[in-house]
Amino acid sequence: MPKAASRYSINPLNILIVRDRACGTQARDRTHMQQIDVETLQEWLTEDRPVTVLDIRAPEERAQWFIPGSIHVNAYDALKSGDAQAMNGVDLPKDQPVVTICNAGKVSQVAAERLHERGLNAFSLAGGMKAWSLAWNTAEAELQNANVLQVRRTGKGCLSYIVGSASEAVVIDASLEPDVYLRLAAERGWAIRYVLDTHVHADHLSRSRALAEAAGAKLLFPAQNRVAFDFIPIKDGQQIEFGHSRMTVLSSPGHTMESTSYYLDGQALFTGDTLFISGVGRPDLHASADEARGKARVLYQSLRRLLELPSGTLVFPGHASEPPAFDRRPIAERLGQVSDGIAAWLRSEGDFVAAILDRIPPTPPNYFRIVELNEAGIMPEGDASELEAGANRCEVS
Ligand SMILES: [Fe+2]
Repeated sequence: MPKAASRYSINPLNILIVRDRACGTQARDRTHMQQIDVETLQEWLTEDRPVTVLDIRAPEERAQWFIPGSIHVNAYDALKSGDAQAMNGVDLPKDQPVVTICNAGKVSQVAAERLHERGLNAFSLAGGMKAWSLAWNTAEAELQNANVLQVRRTGKGCLSYIVGSASEAVVIDASLEPDVYLRLAAERGWAIRYVLDTHVHADHLSRSRALAEAAGAKLLFPAQNRVAFDFIPIKDGQQIEFGHSRMTVLSSPGHTMESTSYYLDGQALFTGDTLFISGVGRPDLHASADEARGKARVLYQSLRRLLELPSGTLVFPGHASEPPAFDRRPIAERLGQVSDGIAAWLRSEGDFVAAILDRIPPTPPNYFRIVELNEAGIMPEGDASELEAGANRCEVS
């Protein structure tokens, strides 16, 4: 039986900094600071290893987005001001590692030091929540002719899909680096044949173009004149065949005018940001108040159309409103259930427009720049984490 500590030393970043804090001529104390990277924490949570994830941010920061299963102590300000007692009242299990979390991974280092002084095996998450933006997990659903692998960017709530049938696969709304999809598909014996987006995204940088190139796959995109790169346009009613499956293109404008849903084998519906498990897409981005009203009307008609599909159809949305847990359970719901949840809004077009416009959430940060890059089909120079930081905000619920 390996010792507990060695179980956690398989793949940590292992930045072990040992330094003396000297003050004048007298060395006061010796502190140890350990960090782990996002990949390692993701691996621990995926493998369900015992670990305490301790979020030290202010409550309003945590309310924006958090790591599933993490616990919270509001210690950020106290730690930042040098309060040596800041972590004293925090009761933590001693038999497992603790990973401290802040926004950028700086103050969490101080928290880890304080816990280390108490004899805990404490690590700070390098890069904090900003770096966690790219963390992901998966969940799989088995359908008659195809398997749906939901690839969840848990640090942001973006849901993408690899739909595999026989030896071929389609990827929808890639939001992570191409390698992730290539590896997951290869592990299942799927060759990625088509890569598609449901619409031009405003909250994350689309990796679809890069993935299509890396996979040698065809890049399909709803027909529109917004994007400046080459793609194969797809239109309402068209069918995409792969393996033993068939995906029907269903135009569903409203959230954006090119928004499209994909209907798989009469069993599943990939709705992008048109329809969520308990909400609908916001119609106001890149729109004046009048335009938003017009787009809300268009969205109403699209939803009416989608809700005519069989009530047992599984809805796979483009976003989750909570950070997807490491529980391997797909975020999906039967269309009948989804329909019941929003029935009150859909009584009439007028009711719907009023209800939606009344509930518009704050605009996603940096969405102008993200849309600009997605229309150009390029990634920003350097680190994209600042640009993509924060929760998605494409949903009205
Ligand atoms: Fe969107």
